[in-house]
Amino acid sequence: MSTSNSKKKIVKPAGRLTVFLPGVGAVATTFMAGVELIRKGLNQPIGSLAQMGTIRLGKRTEGRSPLIKDFVSLAGLKDLKFAGWDISGGTAFDAAKKAGVLTEEDVGRTKDFLQKIDLMPAVFEKNYVKRLHPKIVKEAKSKMDLAEMLREDIRKTMRRHGSTRGVMVWCGSTEIFIEEGKVHQTISAFEKGLAKNDPEIAPSMIYAYAALKEGIPFANGAPNLTVDMPAMVELAKIQNVPIAGKDFKTGQTLLKTVLAPMLKARALGLNGWFSTNILGNQDGEVLDEPGSFKTKEVSKLSALEYILQPRLYPQLYSDFYHKVRINFYPPRGDNKESWDNIDIFGWLGYPMQIKVNFLCRDSILAAPILLDLVLFMDLAQRAELSGIQEWLSFYFKSPMCAPEIYPEHDLFIQLTKLKNFLRYLMGEELITHLGVEYYEESRGRKK
Ligand SMILES: NC(=O)c1ccc[n+]([C@@H]2O[C@H](COP(=O)([O-])OP(=O)(O)OC[C@H]3O[C@@H](n4cnc5c(N)ncnc54)[C@H](O)[C@@H]3O)[C@@H](O)[C@H]2O)c1
Repeated sequence: MSTSNSKKKIVKPAGRLTVFLPGVGAVATTFMAGVELIRKGLNQPIGSLAQMGTIRLGKRTEGRSPLIKDFVSLAGLKDLKFAGWDISGGTAFDAAKKAGVLTEEDVGRTKDFLQKIDLMPAVFEKNYVKRLHPKIVKEAKSKMDLAEMLREDIRKTMRRHGSTRGVMVWCGSTEIFIEEGKVHQTISAFEKGLAKNDPEIAPSMIYAYAALKEGIPFANGAPNLTVDMPAMVELAKIQNVPIAGKDFKTGQTLLKTVLAPMLKARALGLNGWFSTNILGNQDGEVLDEPGSFKTKEVSKLSALEYILQPRLYPQLYSDFYHKVRINFYPPRGDNKESWDNIDIFGWLGYPMQIKVNFLCRDSILAAPILLDLVLFMDLAQRAELSGIQEWLSFYFKSPMCAPEIYPEHDLFIQLTKLKNFLRYLMGEELITHLGVEYYEESRGRKK
């Protein structure tokens, strides 16, 4: 199979790009303040592959490894504008102070910028996030009317910002667990459901619908269904807009999707994997409620099954016990601590253990992912890609993919996929890591 291709048509990222954030809490404010600090030259975009990562082009002997941001045409940070909705009212500055992730000094340095971002009234339903108490929400007769109000917010904001492009990323709380129903199967059923206030249409879906109708790419940072359903995939195709999701892959699952492929690569068996967390921010409080926890649990549990493929490796993985716990523990705030106890077995079935204790900062890990998703979703839109962007699986705990395939969870397969996709877009040769050419040449010289 040939690995070379021709460069795809990509519109240049001229002008401003508005980032729309439904849910302006810890992640969204840490992201916005961070972008501003980086723009001011006070910090580096640490954790952002799009900003700091390189990509090898051609053979290893060619020495071509540009920065990704120089290789593909990404929007400049200076061109990003921000807007958000929340149930709390006020500004992004109030939200950043409440989130308590960044130091007073860092929040103070971005005060002028964050204070100018007024949070728009949210589309919210308490039934979907039971632990929250809204201050400002939109009121309308039907969910379709609410979608229209969001669309009007989007249009007004784009005009005010003088933006020609936008990207929306759900940074709102995790909604309760629901399964796909009839209303989620086709866009016509979904639109009828909006008009009839179908209870199975969650607020996050209304934001996603509004974004797609306005031609704005949508990515989902939480594990809710939101765009992971046939109706939204259909709408994204009709509107020619990219979608991606779901659930930012930040801490414990990031490590899981590195360690599990290592076990499989060495044919080491697994008896059990116990993952627990303590977390004291508002996300932790929301996830303390069983309905929201179930949504997160399903998302966190899925990676191991897919990576270890018990059906292909019955002696190693057919019978492992996997448990995930999230405990709300206020003293820790956003500084989550996670423990993994992994019971494995090796040669002759002898047991061994791996212990992982990750003292992380949730929003510090999530903010650069959010930045990359904004930049890459905008790139996808300018490259006229539409529907599910599987090449962005790298960023998600439960990557969306075509219905007939299983999702790819292994972090390094995801990274290879992402980089090859960028090479493919730019008409560069794909890298297979075969490497025979280096040895064939030297054999030729000896003759
Ligand atoms: N930080 C991480 O490492 C991480 C990783 C994966 C996923 N996530 C997900 O990202 C989301 C944001 O996390 P966070 O730590 O910023 O949480 P947070 O609680 O600090 O912020 C969420 C915000 O969403 C708002 N909100 C809830 N429903 C809304 C609605 N319908 N419309 C508008 N606003 C709404 C809340 O008022 C809150 O301000 C959560 O769903 C979380 O599970 C976070």
